[in-house]
Amino acid sequence: MTFDVARIRKDFPILDRQIRGGQPLIYLDSANTSQKPRQVLDAMTEFYERHNANIHRASHQLGEEATEAYEGARIKVGEFIGARDETEVVFTKNISEAINLVAYSMSNATAAGPGRFALGPGDEIVITEMEHHSNIVPWQLLCQRTGATLRWFGVTPDGTLDTSNIGDLITERTKLVALVHQSNVLGTINPVRMIADAAHAVGALVLVDAAQSVPHMAVDVASLGADFLGFTGHKLCGPTGIGVLWARRELLDEMPPFLGGGEMIESVWMDRSTFAPPPHKFEAGTMPIAQAVGLGAAIDYLTEVGLDAIRAHELQLIEHALGALAAVDGLRIMGPGSPVDRGSAISFTVEGVHPHDISQVLDDLGIAVRAGHHCAWPLHRAFGVQASTRASFYLYNTHEEADALTEGIRQAQRFFALA
Ligand code: ALA
Repeated sequence: MTFDVARIRKDFPILDRQIRGGQPLIYLDSANTSQKPRQVLDAMTEFYERHNANIHRASHQLGEEATEAYEGARIKVGEFIGARDETEVVFTKNISEAINLVAYSMSNATAAGPGRFALGPGDEIVITEMEHHSNIVPWQLLCQRTGATLRWFGVTPDGTLDTSNIGDLITERTKLVALVHQSNVLGTINPVRMIADAAHAVGALVLVDAAQSVPHMAVDVASLGADFLGFTGHKLCGPTGIGVLWARRELLDEMPPFLGGGEMIESVWMDRSTFAPPPHKFEAGTMPIAQAVGLGAAIDYLTEVGLDAIRAHELQLIEHALGALAAVDGLRIMGPGSPVDRGSAISFTVEGVHPHDISQVLDDLGIAVRAGHHCAWPLHRAFGVQASTRASFYLYNTHEEADALTEGIRQAQRFFALA
């Protein structure tokens, strides 16, 4: 199918909205959460109107239909990211829960005694300074629980990962390397395969936070060299409340459960339980069923548009936006200034105008961006700033919207120069 942004925009009802006194919405906050196409909204409504029932535990027709819809979504996710089969796909609430699942499973393994996932003093977990809080805090807490040490790659001034000390960071002591595929602040796409190869050479596992890459480009877990990969539904045109942890099946087999409850068990006695095989071992309680169905519909939608076509559209868009932004006096882009090895989140600071003031002026013009530390406070500290403004583009954005952003920033500069 030819990529036609005008036609794509018609799929997203919210893009017809007028806001702030009748101005057309310009939505540049998709790294925060994406908008949803009619196809996803319809799939969820149809599920609730015609098939709603609990899954895996109702023996009536609706129960069968709901189970089929939920498990069908799992198959779609597995195919979308190149899993060997759908049993490698665990549904979670979001990526934060996916990462916490691995971290808590490792500490449950530690409590149970020595083994592949057990950690202790002398063991190390390696992350990067480019992570958002969901891929920092769970590892800090895991290290506190187990006595392991947290280490990290730094970031260069141009916003790429500083891998110059990789030999010092990834050693025989490393048990896990957890890193972001595409930065939610800088847009930088990291050399995951190279780092994964170094980690595997010392026997460490690799977890990839793909929340910002899976919505925007074709991602294949095997080519990345990942052992675990997480992403979230709401950033890829799906609903909130559904995320994914993919892991190699043999790891899921060995890992102890994280959350206990209904449907993750095989047998329960008063003093002990045995557990269902993966992925159900990690899905306790009633799961977000309609949300999984919505995620499946989002994957169908993006697959039909084509991930390569989406990536090509975004590359053109960010080349245009980066060029226009670079021409604004006093504007400093954080991260790669050209569309090489970068995605569509563009964060920047403007000399003399606070990021929140920029976003306020843009909002008055109907332009939605994010201002703040974008849940990546250490990264902002590394750049010597408290906050930045971020515009993030997706398949439904246009060159005209990028121009409106640039003009809005100039308007903010004029306003605050006079203030
Ligand atoms: N949702 C967060 C963002 O906006 C992490 O990047």
